[in-house]
Amino acid sequence: MKKLGVNIDHIATLRQARKGHFPDPVFAAGICEIAGCDSIVCHLREDRRHIQDRDVFALKNTVRRLNLEMAISEEIVKIAMQVQPAQVTLVPEKREELTTEGGLDVSSHLKRVKEVIELFHEKGIIVSLFIEPDFQQIEASKEAGTDAIELHTGRYAEYFEKDQDWAWNEELQKIRKAAEFATSTGIKTHAGHGLDYRNIYPILNIKHIEEFNIGYSIICRAVFTGLHQAVRDMVEIIKTGQKPDFH
Ligand code: PXP
Repeated sequence: MKKLGVNIDHIATLRQARKGHFPDPVFAAGICEIAGCDSIVCHLREDRRHIQDRDVFALKNTVRRLNLEMAISEEIVKIAMQVQPAQVTLVPEKREELTTEGGLDVSSHLKRVKEVIELFHEKGIIVSLFIEPDFQQIEASKEAGTDAIELHTGRYAEYFEKDQDWAWNEELQKIRKAAEFATSTGIKTHAGHGLDYRNIYPILNIKHIEEFNIGYSIICRAVFTGLHQAVRDMVEIIKTGQKPDFH
C-alpha cells in the first residue's frame, strides 16, 4: 500500500510570521496522524525560516514516524544525529531559494553523501536522497549506499499547473523510468515536491513509487477545510486511487 508523509513546515511558516507559539507544528502533526498519514515530514533549514530546533526534538518525542529533511552540512547532521528520526531525507539547500529547487547532486558530492549515510546507518536511521529522475544520480545514490531515493516531482508539477500536457507527460515518463531503474537496483522509491489534489493521479499509477511526501497543497487546503479533512482527502486518494467527495 502506498504511503503518505505530510510535510508540516508551513504550519511553522505561519507561526514564524509573528514569531509566537501558534500554530504549533507538533499539534498539527497529531491531527495529521489521526487523519491517517503514515509519517510526519519536516525540514530543518540552515536559515531556520520555519521549523526550529525545538520543533524537531518535540516532534521526534511525539509522532509515530518522523522523516527529517535536511542538508548535509555539519551543523545539521550533528543535530539530526541527536534527534535520531526514523528516516532522514538529504536535500540540497540554497539560502535564497523559496523552496528546495532541484535535487541533490549525489555524483558530485559522493564522498560526503556516503560518509553521512554511514553515520546515519550506524544509528539505524533510514536514508533517502532527494534527486532528479536521472539515471546517473540513481547510480551514484546506489554507490553511496542509500536505502531510498525521493524523486523530485517539481518540474512535472510545474508543467501540469501550466496545462502543458506534452511536457508533463514527458516528465512523468522520466519519473516512471527512474522509479523502475531504482527498484531494479534494490533502492526504494519515494516522490515529492509540488504534488497536489489534481496532479497526484497520473503519478499514483507508477507502481514502484511507495511513498509520497506532500506539504504545501495540504496546508493550503487546510485553510478552508481544516487540517484533518485536508489530510483525510489526500490519504483517501493515495490509498484508493479514487477521487474523494470533496466538501
Ligand atoms: N519532498 C522534499 C524533499 C521537499 O524538500 C519538499 C518541500 O519541503 C517536499 C517533499 C514537499 O513539497 P511540497 O511542499 O511542494 O508538497
